[in-house]
Amino acid sequence: MKLKDKVFIITGATSGMGKAIAELFSKEGASLIISGRDVERGEALEKELGLAGNSVLFVAGDVAESACNSHLVQAALEKFGKLDGLSINAGMLGLGKITDLDPTIWHQTFKVNVDAAFYLLKAALPELQKSKNASVVVNASIAAFKNFPNHPAYCASKAAVVSLAKQAAVDYAPEVRINCICPGPVDTPFIYDSAIAFPDPAKAVENAGKNTLIQRLGTPEDISKLALFLASEDASWITGTAYTIDGGIMAKS
Ligand SMILES: NC(=O)c1ccc[n+]([C@@H]2O[C@H](COP(=O)([O-])OP(=O)(O)OC[C@H]3O[C@@H](n4cnc5c(N)ncnc54)[C@H](O)[C@@H]3O)[C@@H](O)[C@H]2O)c1
Repeated sequence: MKLKDKVFIITGATSGMGKAIAELFSKEGASLIISGRDVERGEALEKELGLAGNSVLFVAGDVAESACNSHLVQAALEKFGKLDGLSINAGMLGLGKITDLDPTIWHQTFKVNVDAAFYLLKAALPELQKSKNASVVVNASIAAFKNFPNHPAYCASKAAVVSLAKQAAVDYAPEVRINCICPGPVDTPFIYDSAIAFPDPAKAVENAGKNTLIQRLGTPEDISKLALFLASEDASWITGTAYTIDGGIMAKS
């Protein structure tokens, strides 16, 4: 029970890695505010985790809106009386080359991938500073360090959120530890959406897995285990880092 008596907020919790993080964190004893836009999936996850005996509240909302993020912090305080950590996980792709990209999509990608992290950190940090061993885990991407065809908004926004997380680690140490996870290709709906940017999307997903040193796509559970490590006191000397978790793809030329 590595997160016993801890209270976490998880964004984008109704699908993929966010869902796996919610399942593992609650198994490890955390009480959770889980957030997402899909009410049906959110309520189903709340029920699933609740039936397993965990304290979970689903709060629907769009993290691109500042108010949604402060509402998540309020919900944690009202339901559980405190806040110990965040998994800032919701993300969007905003595909298209610079010359084709509608500026609205560019701005929306930054709103979801960067502004939302700023809003949630801004609302949560005063509460996290009161917690013992508070931890924030931001789901960035190897796209923060490596570029992919037709992904300018995504890559630039993920690089920005890594910098934001490191800045927050500098400014809020030692009370709050803040780290990024930078996944390579992981088998969630997201990677199939990302593959649309390639000439043969099905082949692109297949190759993405094969091209890693481990020769497979990551699973949401591979990622949730790293999130748990960073969230827990096992990582009490780790802050301001960005961990690649990518089957070794960044080690390849
Ligand atoms: N799958 C991959 O290969 C991969 C690789 C690296 C990083 N990532 C990152 O991992 C994170 C999780 O993605 P995933 O792969 O689990 O995909 P996913 O599509 O399963 O989950 C993404 C979640 O974010 C939510 N979301 C998107 N915009 C939102 C908004 N405005 N408000 C609230 N929620 C919103 C979606 O509804 C969904 O629940 C994302 O930040 C993504 O950029 C994914």
